Amino acid sequence: MTSEPVRLGVAGLGRAFMLMLPTFRQDPRVRLIAAAAPRAESREAFAAEFGGRGHETVEALATDPEVEAIYVATPHQMHADHVCAALEGGKHVLVDKPLAVSMADADRMVDTAERTGRHLIVGPSHSFDAPVALARRLVEGGDHGAVRMVQALNYTDFLYRPRRPEELRTEEGGGVLFSQGVHQIDVVRLLCGGLARSVFAMTGAWDPERPTEGAYSALVAFEGGAFATLTYSGYAHFDSDVWMDGVGELGAPKDPTAYGKARKALAGLDPEAEARLKTTRTFGQGADPAPATHHEHFGPVIALCDRADLRLMPSGVEVSADTERWFEEAPLGVPRAEVVDALVDAVREDRAPVQSGAWGRASLELCHAILASAETGQPVALHKQSDTEGRTR
Ligand SMILES: NC(=O)c1ccc[n+]([C@@H]2O[C@H](COP(=O)([O-])OP(=O)(O)OC[C@H]3O[C@@H](n4cnc5c(N)ncnc54)[C@H](O)[C@@H]3O)[C@@H](O)[C@H]2O)c1
Repeated sequence: MTSEPVRLGVAGLGRAFMLMLPTFRQDPRVRLIAAAAPRAESREAFAAEFGGRGHETVEALATDPEVEAIYVATPHQMHADHVCAALEGGKHVLVDKPLAVSMADADRMVDTAERTGRHLIVGPSHSFDAPVALARRLVEGGDHGAVRMVQALNYTDFLYRPRRPEELRTEEGGGVLFSQGVHQIDVVRLLCGGLARSVFAMTGAWDPERPTEGAYSALVAFEGGAFATLTYSGYAHFDSDVWMDGVGELGAPKDPTAYGKARKALAGLDPEAEARLKTTRTFGQGADPAPATHHEHFGPVIALCDRADLRLMPSGVEVSADTERWFEEAPLGVPRAEVVDALVDAVREDRAPVQSGAWGRASLELCHAILASAETGQPVALHKQSDTEGRTR
């Protein structure tokens, strides 16, 4: 094993890249050496901070001989082409969630990774959060017995943050399922072993101005008998982060005076002005995210096991056992270091991640199944699931 940093290229210097910046700036195990971005000012901002090469296309980045792995952070609907170009160029890939929009694209990506012998990691997603990993270790340790039931819920203002037009069109991957639901699905699947059998769900599309799903509730049955409820609203006025010690999704304390800020900022904007507003949150233009004082999280999650209930919090896991209750701290380090762990393991040690292409495809299948169940009013069976060892069903 070499201790050289992984030489990483980045495709897409937008909001997702901004959220990875604290990691890239602090983790010495990765070095950003190239980027692909259509806008010259983004490439210039990248060169000014990281040096390296700016490419106009992902295809050019994919053939850059110095690059070992590529972080694909372009819009969902481009993931398949960009990931396949990177894999064909011989690079390992970290692709931001969701893996893709269509299951056909997901199949193509998983097949291309297999054929080229490169690793495909789907992340970051909140299943990488340290408290989730800690809860999983507690479950695997066996002291608390089997996971029987999981509740996950999150109330946010997601639908009222500035969006590109396609982010409000379900068929192009818009709405809360593909961008937000997939986080919650990843977390719950990790706690329940990964293999969902079926789902019954309802969705809400309640704002005609933003005509896509902004909310859902789903009941998921897993192999082995565990079941889970997943509830999400991106229309929320009540903010469920009050149940997470007032810590926001990215691990920073929430400012109570910012209540209603997202809706206020959108008032009176047409779609073009809204898309422009979104670019003010991207690399080279937007302010850095507030520094994290806790781990990231995706809202309240409670896993009920035979002999203890595990409550996931931004600094660890509260364990309520038969006769005692205690808190297991998850030590704070470089934000999203767990994503770099997976990347380094894959690139340097040829170790497949839990959140592989097949894992991401299984979470995507659940997103589609939730939409299909809501449309038909029937439970939907799942056929492309993958467990934490990479075994598929
Ligand atoms: N994990 C997270 O915390 C998180 C947060 C936000 C977004 N995301 C994911 O990241 C992805 C991007 O979303 P976003 O909100 O950052 O969008 P965005 O619009 O802010 O960023 C996308 C970027 O891709 C660039 N781009 C477009 N076409 C390109 C091309 N052909 N080649 C290279 N770059 C190109 C755009 O210029 C833009 O900078 C989505 O899949 C989203 O789900 C993840």
